[in-house]
Amino acid sequence: MDLSVFSKIESQSSDEDKKTFLACQAAIRELRGEYNYLEIGSYLGGSIQPHLLDTKCRTIISIDKRPKTQPDERGFDWTYLENSTERMIENLKQVAPEYLEKIKTIDGSTDEIDPSSIDEPIDLCLIDGEHTDVAMRRDFEFCLSVLNKRGGGNNFSRRANYLQRDLRSARRPANERGQFQCL
Ligand SMILES: C[S@@+](CC[C@H](N)C(=O)[O-])C[C@H]1O[C@@H](n2cnc3c(N)ncnc32)[C@H](O)[C@@H]1O
Repeated sequence: MDLSVFSKIESQSSDEDKKTFLACQAAIRELRGEYNYLEIGSYLGGSIQPHLLDTKCRTIISIDKRPKTQPDERGFDWTYLENSTERMIENLKQVAPEYLEKIKTIDGSTDEIDPSSIDEPIDLCLIDGEHTDVAMRRDFEFCLSVLNKRGGGNNFSRRANYLQRDLRSARRPANERGQFQCL
């Protein structure tokens, strides 16, 4: 897989994560043709790059609360320096200025956002915001409520492995619809 599509903006995701993201993107292109992408936790825009460059991606919704500090249950603290939507958009402008208009940004957390305000049916999600069980579950429920009911993918960061058990019950309805892949 060609990871160079991630090269212009630093990403917090590992190469293994990126390969998985590209595999999910390839799958959704094949399943849906054109698609809408929603991401929770974007920071500098690193994980948005392949979707910005993809002519089959119609809309990108980036939700990021951009707090000064955030709880994290991975056992070590992460600091996201100079974390702003303006900075992310400036970065993405370097990647593909001609496609910038397909990005919609929401500065906030999913507990503050009405799912009905997402007016595009979402085909593919990435949850990579606050890394706590409570937030991950909340973000997961939010994604389920905005996912296209006819199919699609739902992509969790592998960093969320610690809460597989908590998500098992929430995941079941999505699995039954064949909508959900947990990494
Ligand atoms: C790991 S970084 C995202 C990295 C990005 N997905 C990538 O791969 O390049 C996590 C982001 O989550 C955001 N964040 C923290 N708490 C959040 C919350 N409650 N809701 C949404 N985003 C949040 C942070 O501001 C930060 O930008």
